[in-house]
Amino acid sequence: MAAAGVSKPVLGVETSCDETGVAVYDPARGLLAHRLYSQAAMHAEYGGVVPELASRDHVRKLLPLIEATLREAGIGMHGLGGVAYTAGPGLAGALLVGAGVARALAWALQIPALGVHHMEGHLLAPLLEPDPPQPPFVALLVSGGHSMLVNVAGIGRYALLGDTLDDAAGEAFDKTAMLLGLPYPGGPALAELATRGRRDAFAFTRPLLDRPGLDFSFSGLKTQVLLAWQRSDRSAGVRADIAAGFEAAMVETLVEKCRRALRAADSTRLVVAGGVGANRALREALAHSGAQDGFRTWFPRPEFCTDNGAMIAHVGALRLAAGQQGDAAIRIRPRWPLDSLEAAVA
Ligand code: KG4
Ligand code: ZN
Repeated sequence: MAAAGVSKPVLGVETSCDETGVAVYDPARGLLAHRLYSQAAMHAEYGGVVPELASRDHVRKLLPLIEATLREAGIGMHGLGGVAYTAGPGLAGALLVGAGVARALAWALQIPALGVHHMEGHLLAPLLEPDPPQPPFVALLVSGGHSMLVNVAGIGRYALLGDTLDDAAGEAFDKTAMLLGLPYPGGPALAELATRGRRDAFAFTRPLLDRPGLDFSFSGLKTQVLLAWQRSDRSAGVRADIAAGFEAAMVETLVEKCRRALRAADSTRLVVAGGVGANRALREALAHSGAQDGFRTWFPRPEFCTDNGAMIAHVGALRLAAGQQGDAAIRIRPRWPLDSLEAAVA
C-alpha cells in the first residue's frame, strides 16, 4: 500500500488501555505537543482496569484532548498530514474508540491514516530522546501486558528472542502490589515501598536464571511472595522487605536476560521500553551492568515509558513517511504479534 510519503505533522492517538494519549509529531521538527489523560483513579476502586469503563471514558476524553493538543502544537486540523492510532494489541472496545475517531478525522480531512502496533510504539520511544540509538539493537519490552526481548534490525524488522511464559513483568509488579495492599496501579507504588525495605531479607528465586534461554516466567516468584506474606506478621517492616526482595529478584532477572540477549545477538546496544522501564532500580542496575560488561542502554524519559500518544504519533510519522497507510475500514487487532509487522523504509 505504498503512496507518496507524509511529510507534514502527524496526529497520534493512543487508547489501547486506560490512558487516553494524543500527540503531534512533525517529521522535520520532532514532537510538537503531547497530552495524556489517565483513567487510573477511576479504575483504582476496582483494583484493575474495567474494559467497559475504559472505552466509555475514552469516548468522553478523546475529542477535547485532540483539540487541546492541536492548540498546544500551534496547528489547526488542516495543518495535519496524517493520523496514526493504536490498532492493537489492547482492549477491543478501547481500541475501537481511537480507531473510529482517527479514521473519521482522516476521512473528513482527506489525509492518510494508519493503525500502529502499540508495542512498536513502546519499542521506538527511546528514539524520541536526544542522541537516539540506531538499529541494530536489542530491546527489552516490559509493560503490563508483555515481557519480550527483541532483536531489532531496523524499523519494522523485529525478531523475538524471548517472551513471557506466564505473567508479564508489569503484571507481576501489579499483582504483588495488590497482595501487599498497595493502590492500583501497583508498579510505581511497589517500587516506592521497596526503597524502604531490605533487598536481601527474603531470598526469593531469580526466575529461570538457572536455565539457559531468554524466556521469562514470574509465576513461581509470585507464589513465593504470597507464601512469604502469608507466613509473616504482616508488619510495615516486612511489607517493605517483601517489596524490596521482589523488586530485586525482578530486576536481577531482567538484567541477566538482557546480558544474555546482547551476547546472543552480538550487540552492545540495549533499548528498554514499556511501563516497567520507568523503574528506577532497573535503570540503575542496567547502567551498572553496562559499565561492567561494555554495553549501553537507552531508555525513554519515564513519562514515555508508560502509555502515551507521543510514541504512536512517532511510529505513525515514520511509517506514513515511508508511504504506508491503511484503507478506510476501521480495523483493530486486539492480538497482534510484533514480529509480523512490515518493515518501513522511507
Ligand atoms: O506500558 P504500560 O503503561 O502499559 C501497557 O502497555 O501495559 O505499562 C504499565 C505497567 C503496569 O503494570 C505498571 O505497574 C508498570 O508498567 N509500571 C512500573 C513502574 N511504572 C509503571 N513497574 C515497576 N516500576 C515502576 N516505576
Ligand atoms: Zn503500553
